[in-house]
Amino acid sequence: MTGHCANCTRHDDEHRLERHEHGQTLLLEPVSTPLILKRRLGSRHILLRVKAHVDYDPGQFFQVTKLGFGEAPISIASYSKEHIDLVVNPVGTVTQEVIRMKPGERVLLRGPFGYGYPMHYFRNDSLILIGGGCGVAPLKGVMDYVSQHRSHYKEVTCFFGYREEKESIFTKEMRAWEKNGTFKFVYAYSQPPAGFKGNTGFVTQYIEQSGMDNRGKVALICGPPPMMLGAIKSLQKLGFTDDQIWISHERHMKCATGMCGHCMIEGKYTCKDGPVFRWDWIKDAKG
Ligand SMILES: Cc1cc2nc3c(=O)[nH]c(=O)nc-3n(C[C@H](O)[C@H](O)[C@H](O)COP(=O)(O)OP(=O)(O)OC[C@H]3O[C@@H](n4cnc5c(N)ncnc54)[C@H](O)[C@@H]3O)c2cc1C
Ligand code: FES
Repeated sequence: MTGHCANCTRHDDEHRLERHEHGQTLLLEPVSTPLILKRRLGSRHILLRVKAHVDYDPGQFFQVTKLGFGEAPISIASYSKEHIDLVVNPVGTVTQEVIRMKPGERVLLRGPFGYGYPMHYFRNDSLILIGGGCGVAPLKGVMDYVSQHRSHYKEVTCFFGYREEKESIFTKEMRAWEKNGTFKFVYAYSQPPAGFKGNTGFVTQYIEQSGMDNRGKVALICGPPPMMLGAIKSLQKLGFTDDQIWISHERHMKCATGMCGHCMIEGKYTCKDGPVFRWDWIKDAKG
């Protein structure tokens, strides 16, 4: 390690993996942009597509504001120079207000924040995408990116877990990708209805059952923390090393710019140094 970056807590060596090195245009003040599409995704989530000509990486996030209610960090679920897709699980004050918006209304957002998945660094690798519930949303951004740069990557296999099949998101897009051979899919449902015929239980058991080796592969994981830890253990059993595993962390956030300390994990800011981290960079951090 040669030292620290002057702008964030990352080591210079870690920056070598990054494309932007703080060069990205960052909207620190909220800007308003039209909502151009609203669609229900499965039984729990709402897709909001906003018009935006902003550079971003899969895995980064925006702060979405609802005046009078507050802000919520929402991951980017697309890769486009024309729009940003946000998948919202309406769990509380801000998210429930945001999903009330109608196409044509203007959404307030600031970002894109943090570091996403360094897709250029994975060139010529096979990708293992592991998502749980709403965690599939940022991986959809990765999938959009890969489908636009398909020759840069080898095989891409997705292991996606939901409680029930009806909670699955982007089913139309996933089916089309499965049909034309862009990606392979393994789904698992932890709380299926009686008589369900597909894979049941946690998706981690199907990672192990695949018997894959770790050669030329990287795994990108996003989901609830217990699911991510389970997935890491399964990958390790298959021989994956910590530097082949990337996770996306969620923490309560306020400023999203490394000022307030709300999102800190032992010396690293989830908002500024993450939310995507390589496992060996944070595996020993508590919190
Ligand atoms: C980097 C990042 C990316 C995210 N991406 C998405 C996404 O793509 N789609 C999505 O629907 N949600 C996403 N979230 C979670 C989302 O930001 C929270 O659910 C949201 O802030 C809740 O705000 P609220 O005002 O609606 O709920 P509140 O009224 O504040 O809280 C409702 C419940 O959610 C819990 N909660 C609040 N904030 C968080 C948080 N950050 N993490 C976990 N639990 C929280 C509260 O403790 C409470 O139990 C992301 C969070 C982070 C940090
Ligand atoms: S939210 Fe990360 S430091 Fe404020």
